[in-house]
This record gives sequence, structure tokens and C-alpha cells, in this order.
Amino acid sequence: MTERKRILTGIRPTGALHLGHYAGALENWVRLQGEYECYFLIADYQVSDYADDIARVRESVWEVALDWLAVGLDPESSHYVIESLVPEHAELTQWLGWFLPLGMLQRNPTLKAEMSEFGKKSVPVAFFTYPVMQVANILLPRAHLVPVGEDQLPHIELTREVARRFNRDFKDVFPEPEGLVGRVPRLAGIDGQAKMSKSLNNAIYLKDDAATVADKIRRMFGGPPRGADEPGNPDDNPIMLYLRAFDPDADEVAGMEEQYRTRGVGNKVLKDRLTVALNDMLDPFRDRRARYASNMRLVRDALAAGTEAHRSIARETMVMVRDALDLGYLEKY
Ligand code: TRP
Repeated sequence: MTERKRILTGIRPTGALHLGHYAGALENWVRLQGEYECYFLIADYQVSDYADDIARVRESVWEVALDWLAVGLDPESSHYVIESLVPEHAELTQWLGWFLPLGMLQRNPTLKAEMSEFGKKSVPVAFFTYPVMQVANILLPRAHLVPVGEDQLPHIELTREVARRFNRDFKDVFPEPEGLVGRVPRLAGIDGQAKMSKSLNNAIYLKDDAATVADKIRRMFGGPPRGADEPGNPDDNPIMLYLRAFDPDADEVAGMEEQYRTRGVGNKVLKDRLTVALNDMLDPFRDRRARYASNMRLVRDALAAGTEAHRSIARETMVMVRDALDLGYLEKY
């Protein structure tokens, strides 16, 4: 039997997960978990922008784990990992920082965009260097594939660059990992803004109950004002975009789009349909989440087992890294 290739991917523990996470990344994780050996990381070292809200970070570790269990990531076959319980992440970050030019961080578009969100608040050093840690996260289990949201691709490019340098200048330790973006790279918010996000308060959460989802959809932005029998461009209407993303009957959705373009379709019809489609999709998630939430010991055990498994490959990699960097000082004499 050949060894399975490995996935490492992760999420920062800042709150419950939403539909954008699902369509942009989680869905791929679920699909690929049988094919790859998976390490799913809760990146609690990388939330220095939440330093004034530690309680929220600690609570979110459980929220994220529950959401993962809810969508069907199987902790028996995949590893759920708490980053800071694998301190090799910090250790490798420190070494890799040697091989990553500052200019590459300064040019990183994701980091730039996030940095500007601080406004007048000072930026912690740890925030500036989190992409280095993300590189270390991916290289530590020597991952081959990194399924992520579109906004993360610059960090994967950085990772490939570091892997190439390390392998060339020292020893061939790291595969050059590929990024993989989900079916819906960027999901609009329910208010029509380009991106669904917790901070914009325009998200539908995987754990929202059916009534909450119905209510959010009722209030959802339905494109530029338009009568029910007025044709329009479906691309301008987030309700239509959500149907495209989440309605299981692609043919019927295509028919509705056609009608939307030619004769028009009322938003009420679209919203009712979307409510059913989303609640049908989310119902099994809600059931699984509730089952685990009533037995948090199981969640704890999933995190403990996954973290332990990750530590063992982390130790293995660090032996290779120390050898490559010639760190065996005490073996010399
Ligand atoms: N930075 C990612 C995000 O904000 C989370 C993350 C941390 C990650 N480490 C990772 C993603 C490693 C992929 C691989 O969503």
C-alpha cells in the first residue's frame, strides 16, 4: 500500500463558521477526506488581532470543532488539531523566518488588505508574521494539498517559494504544496456586499436554526429594485447567486435564470425556494452538531487524538529539519 498524500488546512478560531466557509473550502475538505490523510488545524496562534478578546478565541476553538463535526469531517479518519498544542509550529516558524524575505511579506496582498483593517489601532508583530506561521503549518506535516478560500492563495504561493528554497539550499524535505479553491471562491453577503463575513454582519451561519435562516433570507438584499415581472441580470442578485451555489437542482435553477433574464422572476419566489434549499442542506448539520454539543467530551477526544497524531508527524519533520540545518551540535564531540 502506498502512503496517502496529505492535506493540511486550517481556520482561525474567531467564531462560528458560515456558508462562505462551507462553499469556499469546507465542502472540499469533506469531499477529499477519504482520499488524503487530513490535518485540520485550528490556528489559535494566529489570532493576535483578537488579543483583547481571548475568551472569544478560546470559546471559538469549540465552535469551530463543532462546525467541522456538523458538516461531516470524520475525526476517526482525519485529524482535528489545536495548533498551540503542537509547539513545533512555533519552532518551525522561527526557522523559516530566516528564509522569507521581508519584501515578500510586504507585497502579500492578503496581509496588506487585512493590515489596513486595523486603522489607527497598532498592529501586533505576531499579526505581521502570521503568514510565516501559515507556511510552517503547511510544511510541518509535509502537506501536498491545501484546500482553502480564494483569499488564502497568496500564502500558498509563499509556502511554495519557501519549500523550494529550503529544498534547494539544504535538503529535500518538503513537497511543494498545491492550493485548491472551492466551488464558490467568494460568496456574497446577504446584504449584497462582495464577501460574506462575520465582521460585516452579513453571514448565514452553519449553526443558524431554520427560523433564523428563513428570517435572514426574508431580509436579504435582492439586487437593484425591480418588479416581479421585470427582466434583470441574475448575476446582480445574491439570492440567485445563492441558488446557484446551494440549490441541488441545477437544471431548475438554470431555467429560473433564463426566465429571470427574459420575463423576470419575483424575489419572493426565489427567497422561498432558497429557504427550503438551505434548510434542507443545513438540517443534517444541525442534527449532528446538536448530538456532539450534548456530549462535549467527544469533541474533546477528537481534538486530543488529532493533535496527538499531528505531533508525531511534526516531530518527524523537525528531525529532518534539524538534520538539514545541521543543528546536531551535541552530537559533534
Ligand atoms: N489564515 C487562514 C485563514 O485566515 C487560516 C490558516 C492558518 C490556514 N493556517 C493555515 C489555512 C494553513 C490553510 C493552511 O483562513
